[in-house]
Amino acid sequence: MSVLVLGIETSCDETGVALVEDGRRVRSNVLADQQTLHARYGGVVPEVASRAHVDLLHPAVEQACALGGVRLGDVDAIAVTLGPGLAGSLLVGVAAAKAYALALDRPLVGVNHLVAHVYANVLEHGPLPLPALVFVVSGGHTSLLVMDERGGFRMLGQTIDDAAGEAYDKVARVLGLGYPGGPVIDELARTGDPAAVRFPRALLEDGSDDFSLSGLKTAVARHVRTAGPAVHPADVAASFQEAVVDVQVSKVLGAAKREGLDTVLLAGGVAANSRLRARLGEAADGLGVRVLVPSPALCTDNGAMVACAGSFALERGERTPLDARADPNLQIVPGVGRRAPRHPKRRSRGGGG
Ligand code: KG4
Ligand code: ZN
Repeated sequence: MSVLVLGIETSCDETGVALVEDGRRVRSNVLADQQTLHARYGGVVPEVASRAHVDLLHPAVEQACALGGVRLGDVDAIAVTLGPGLAGSLLVGVAAAKAYALALDRPLVGVNHLVAHVYANVLEHGPLPLPALVFVVSGGHTSLLVMDERGGFRMLGQTIDDAAGEAYDKVARVLGLGYPGGPVIDELARTGDPAAVRFPRALLEDGSDDFSLSGLKTAVARHVRTAGPAVHPADVAASFQEAVVDVQVSKVLGAAKREGLDTVLLAGGVAANSRLRARLGEAADGLGVRVLVPSPALCTDNGAMVACAGSFALERGERTPLDARADPNLQIVPGVGRRAPRHPKRRSRGGGG
C-alpha cells in the first residue's frame, strides 16, 4: 500500500505545497512564489511574507491535490516545516498543517527545514547512501555535517557570520542586481573573469570546518565603492563567486577525507549554484568521492522536500503532537547552531533555512 504525504513549507518567502508518494514519487509540487512581492524591498520583509502565506497556502493545497489527481481526503499524513525560519511565516504553515491533520484525522509530522533540504536528494537519487558528509548551503545557513546510517546528524562546522545565500544576496544588492541575488550572480558570473579581482578566502587553511563570509562581503563592497563607474559587474560577480566556491570545495572535500566518507550530499538554495556544482563535482571525481545534489528546482525551498523528509520520519514512527509549536531557531543538532537574528526586518534571508 502506498503512503501519500502532503508537505507544507512556509519557512521564508516561498509557499510550497506538495504531494509525495512513498517518500519518493512527486505527485505534485506547487510553489507560490512571493519574490516579486519582496523584490522592491531588496529582501524578505517578514510581515509581508507571513501575510502572503495566509493568502497563498490553501489555494496551493487545492492546486497540489488537483495536479496530483487526488482528493485531500486521500492524504495519509501531513508534514510541515517546524523551523528554522521566520517566526510569522512558520506559524502560518504549522497552524494550517495542524488544522488539516485535525480535520482529516491524519498524523502530523514536523520537519526541520535543513533536514528537508538534505532529503531533496532522495527525490532526485533514491535512497541515500549513508553515512555521508552533508553540506547545507542556503539563505540562512552554511552547515557541514555527518549523516549517519540511521539518518542522525553530527555537526562538524558552520558559518560564524553570514550564510552563503545571505552573502550572495548582499553582494547582488551592492552591485544593484536585485533580489534574490544568487541566481543573478550565478548567471552574470558566466561572462566574467573569476581571476579579475583577488578577494579574500576566509578560514581557507585554518583546518576548521567553520566558514566566514562577512569579510568577503565587505571586500566586495569596498572594491565596488573604490572602482566607482569603472566597476565591471560580471568580473566582480565571477571573482566573488570564485572566492566562495574555492573555500567551499576545499573545506567539504577536506572534511570528507578526514571523516573517511566517500559520499557528499549537497543541499539548500545555494546548491543550485552552477559553479559550486561543477567545481565540487570535478574535484570530488579526482578523489573518488561521489557528490549527490538535487536538480536546481529542488535545491531551493519547496514542499516536496518537506513531504519526503516527513515520509521518512513517519516510517521511523515519529509523530508531532497537535500542540507542537513552530520554532524559528530549531536546531539540526540540539544545542549546536546559529540563532536567528533578533531583528529580522529588512535583512536578505537570515534566520531562514
Ligand atoms: O534554501 P533556500 O531556497 O531558502 C532558504 O532556506 O534560505 O535558499 C535561498 C538562497 C538565496 O539566498 C538565494 O540567493 C540562493 O539561495 N540561491 C543561489 C542560487 N539560487 C538560489 N545562490 C547562488 N547561486 C544560485 N544559483
Ligand atoms: Zn531553505
